[in-house]
Amino acid sequence: MKGIVFTEFLDLVEAKFGLEMVDKIINQSNLESNGAYTAVGTYEFSEMLQLLQHLSENTGISIDDLLLVYAEHFFSVLKKSYPGLFVTYTDPIEMLSSIENHIHVEVRKIYPDAELPTFEVVEKSKNSITLIYKSSRAMHHFGLGLMNKTFEHFNATATILLEKLKKDGTEVKFIITKN
Ligand code: HEM
Repeated sequence: MKGIVFTEFLDLVEAKFGLEMVDKIINQSNLESNGAYTAVGTYEFSEMLQLLQHLSENTGISIDDLLLVYAEHFFSVLKKSYPGLFVTYTDPIEMLSSIENHIHVEVRKIYPDAELPTFEVVEKSKNSITLIYKSSRAMHHFGLGLMNKTFEHFNATATILLEKLKKDGTEVKFIITKN
């Protein structure tokens, strides 16, 4: 997982819960990196999972809710870092239908070692889209947060239904309808 995902995560934890919480979750985890992340580095996903698990235990907030809030923050990081990828789009459904064949393709050019999910478009109309998310990382709520923000970016809102196709969350169907 790319370092920017860790650095932005720990920045948000510090802003919401304080530096003590950052130190606490790093110390509670068994990290090969020792918790020293740089935005351009690459680290094991298991480190992110441990940090999330400990933050969840210490705050009583579920991992899904933590990932949802984190994704909403990460969206603005993406907007600032990759403005060129956003100007191509004028519509949220179009943007979401292009994650697989455009957006994450460009991301892979920038970071050849990025660990990305797949998003298969199974149905699409002017105001709705159904996507199937697949990833061994089961970060579906991170996807949900990015989807919410994608609609907000175009001054729109949507109803997004999430249906787990596999219990462990590695395959999830998103049924998305623009309001
Ligand atoms: C992961 C970039 C839009 C879904 C990532 C990562 C980057 C990235 C850098 C981390 C990869 C790693 O750590 O190795 C971008 C950029 C976008 C964009 C630049 C827009 C311009 C979206 C959107 C979605 C999405 C709109 C909506 C669903 C995800 C998910 C992950 C991810 C769910 C977590 C990894 C996983 O589940 O396996 N993306 N992304 N991305 N992205 Fe995107």
